[in-house]
Amino acid sequence: MALEQSQKMIKKGSNMRKLVFMILCFCLLGGTTVHAESYYLQAAKSIEISAEKLQKSRDKVKEHKDIKVLDELEIPPFHKRDEWEKDSLSKTFCTGCHLSPPHTKNLRSRAFLNMHTEFIACETCHMRPENVTFTYQWLDYRTKQVLTPSVALFRQAINKDDIPKRAEEKVRKTDVMDKIAPFYKNEMALILRDHDFAKESLNIWKEGGFEDKVTRRAKIHAPLKEKGPECKVCHQTEEPLLDLKALGANKKQVKRMQTHIIPQFFKRYTEDDQKIRINSLLK
Ligand code: HEC
Ligand code: HEC
Ligand code: HEC
Repeated sequence: MALEQSQKMIKKGSNMRKLVFMILCFCLLGGTTVHAESYYLQAAKSIEISAEKLQKSRDKVKEHKDIKVLDELEIPPFHKRDEWEKDSLSKTFCTGCHLSPPHTKNLRSRAFLNMHTEFIACETCHMRPENVTFTYQWLDYRTKQVLTPSVALFRQAINKDDIPKRAEEKVRKTDVMDKIAPFYKNEMALILRDHDFAKESLNIWKEGGFEDKVTRRAKIHAPLKEKGPECKVCHQTEEPLLDLKALGANKKQVKRMQTHIIPQFFKRYTEDDQKIRINSLLK
């Protein structure tokens, strides 16, 4: 009787130990995945690529031509590309393949869109999945640290006295490596150029065979949209995409951005090839 009971106890004990062991393993495994893959990477890896999409990618790779930027093509003191302009996108994954700055096609908006790449991540405009909510924060592309929201991160003058009155007055310097980027569950939702997936992709793009390039290009663009949002998506008071206040802007800056005349003017365009005369600005 006593023997039977003690055997039962041992069995129970070993079951207990098994359970504790299992819990321990579970915790350890869970604990090692401190940095989950970014939203972008998870999406790029998991979205199924249809035969149609793949064919489209094939056409795009076939049509693709590397454009050389002629840095020497300048007549001093005009049109000189400053170092910082090129630096701005040097850590960005996308400009490993795309021009820096990237927008060329839409003559009307390209200068504005390119200017925005100095302070807005490509993914903020091009990665806008349905049913997923991102938060937007200032990201330092050098250190991958989130920056404390501040009025000084914006180009907008902080108050009236800060607006330079003469051209020779020094303009407040903002850092072109600090950009408003999407975050998912408080983790960076994008990858930068030093990420393994980025390195692998750029290597395939340089050395890979045609079909490898096609498949990788399709994967890279699967979570992305061909076009970014319209200007008014950010430059409006009703439910703007970006919470400018949370990003550090003060009331004056928010108002200036949300009611800025240039993006307001863009609302008048309803057709791609529509032309609006300068004097109709007054209407
Ligand atoms: C491996 C190279 C590569 C990388 C990296 C890459 N792209 Fe592209 N992308 C292409 C090619 C090739 C095209 C086709 C048009 C062309 O030839 O430029 C394209 C086209 C596009 C287009 C136009 C729509 C379309 O499908 O033709 C957008 C928008 C775009 N890319 C955004 C991005 C963004 C944003 C990133 C970074 C998250 C990125 N790309 C990363 C190679 C790349
Ligand atoms: C402020 C929002 C915004 C940002 C930031 C942005 N884009 Fe775009 N992008 C757009 C819009 C809008 C279009 C569509 C333009 C059109 O054809 O009307 C576009 C079009 C494109 C195209 C295809 C057409 C073209 O102009 O050649 C490519 C490629 C592209 N973006 C790449 C990028 C890359 C790479 C980045 C980051 C370095 C980036 N974009 C950042 C809004 C943005
Ligand atoms: C993803 C959001 C977003 C989109 C889309 C967007 N903007 Fe902006 N834009 C901003 C933010 C944020 C600023 C302020 C940057 C700063 O002050 O540092 C800004 C600043 C500007 C400025 C500069 C204001 C100034 O006085 O310095 C102009 C002009 C402008 N945007 C025009 C446009 C136009 C035109 C479009 C469409 C072609 C557009 N924006 C699309 C977010 C956006």
